[in-house]
Amino acid sequence: MNIKVSFIAIIILMCFGCKEESKNNSDLLISQGSSSDKEEKFRPQFHFTPATHWMNDPNGLVYYKDYYHLFYQYYPDSTVWGPMHWGHARSKDLLHWVHRPIALYPDSLGYIFSGSAVIDKNNTAGFGKEAMVAMYTYHDPIKEKQGSNLFQTQGIAYSNDEGETWTKYEQNPVIENPGIRDFRDPKIFWNEEKSIWQMVLVAKDHVQFYESPNIKDWKKISEFWFEDHPPLGVWECPDLFKLKVEGTKEEKWVLIISHGTGAPNAGSGTRYFVGDYDGTTFTTRQKESQWVDYGTDNYAGVTFNNEPSNRRIFIGWMSNWDYATTTPTESWRSAMTLPRELSLIKEGESYYLKSPLITKFNNLTQNISKTEITGNIPYQFSYNNLQSSVISFDAIVEEKFLVIFSNDKKESFKISYNFHDGLLKLDRTKSGQVDFNEKYKTSSIQKMRIGKQNKLSIKLVLDASSIEIFINGGRYVMTNQIFPNEGFTNFEILPKENVKISNFKIQFIKRSI
Ligand code: FRU
Repeated sequence: MNIKVSFIAIIILMCFGCKEESKNNSDLLISQGSSSDKEEKFRPQFHFTPATHWMNDPNGLVYYKDYYHLFYQYYPDSTVWGPMHWGHARSKDLLHWVHRPIALYPDSLGYIFSGSAVIDKNNTAGFGKEAMVAMYTYHDPIKEKQGSNLFQTQGIAYSNDEGETWTKYEQNPVIENPGIRDFRDPKIFWNEEKSIWQMVLVAKDHVQFYESPNIKDWKKISEFWFEDHPPLGVWECPDLFKLKVEGTKEEKWVLIISHGTGAPNAGSGTRYFVGDYDGTTFTTRQKESQWVDYGTDNYAGVTFNNEPSNRRIFIGWMSNWDYATTTPTESWRSAMTLPRELSLIKEGESYYLKSPLITKFNNLTQNISKTEITGNIPYQFSYNNLQSSVISFDAIVEEKFLVIFSNDKKESFKISYNFHDGLLKLDRTKSGQVDFNEKYKTSSIQKMRIGKQNKLSIKLVLDASSIEIFINGGRYVMTNQIFPNEGFTNFEILPKENVKISNFKIQFIKRSI
């Protein structure tokens, strides 16, 4: 390929609208991929996907010098999970990503499992001023095979060139396994109040809290347990951060934990606890689990460190371990959710997370001209590319309503709400390819309790094989993977008499290449 052709191919593949990125030739470096990737069936167009092969959890989310860095669990040799690496991409706006070379490769201590990254501004670790330091789990497959329980330990690595190249710390592991089989996914953060590094780590069925002056020497300071009846699947990918309660001066801490099984609509999901953290111990009065997202496809999500305007930006892996390795994509597997900005609200005596899309997402959207839509807008209309669109409206509901997306193959995706039982339901039973996995099929009808509300604000974001549903500004969220054989072209809300729509908007995603 001559330079010009490869330049165009890479731009098409990696980003639309990433003009700033393309000024710098080194930004065009990619690890894999071909120019046709963007046209592949089911490949999301404005969600992050690996150029090729397998991806799971987001890792090492950190902002540094104009860029948001997204590392991720990556297996570059197959479209199913295998020896884990950290893939890498970066973005100036969290929406246009450019792939970078693989950051971390497995070594003699094991595969590189999930973890986090920080910017060591004061060189506490001695790796250099403003070194990017990653802390991750080593998973030793040999020890695991030998039947040992000690196969997960924690290691660190650093980069002095903005995450491009990495050096592993020669005295790894920095935390040995204490005899717990599942012991992983360190999330480090700088605790302002105590001026010390702190870290949360999951250990089988609880969270452990650690602190360190230098990211190398860690001391365990506390644990957090929660009685679940029945117990949920193994605890994974924790995160801990402080948020202000909207409209007040009150501050609360939020502890996020993912669970491989036991989520409200089956399989994997991410829940949170809102409580207090005195710099050593986290406590909560919460009696029940709250989930970040009630759809089946938002897992292992965590938030960015070092975000310049102190926002809590969350990205999750848009899949579910129940069927992740079998979804019907060919050259790559899975995508990340769109970035969401977390906030905290109080209703009665309880606190809840809200997770709307980052406001900059609006820069990507443009209203669709009326001539492109036919039918009785907003109740029933056709538009030939609903699979890459954003639909939003406010609804006054008398009793119940049903939203149907469909195509000419009679495939459909349904969203319904019933005021009487307060349930919002999704139905992907006939949404296209569903037979690839029994568990995908059996999780096709999903429910979320939102209570009796006669006024709802609804935002639906469709992108090839995903639909993200935001109710009331992200107070309730459901994320789903769907695999229609043809894009949806028809939209319908039933029964018309029962639901009054206002502020209706249908938008497409601007592509600026
Ligand atoms: C969550 C997880 C993590 C682990 C990683 C391995 O999806 O199981 O706990 O570090 O994936 O890829």
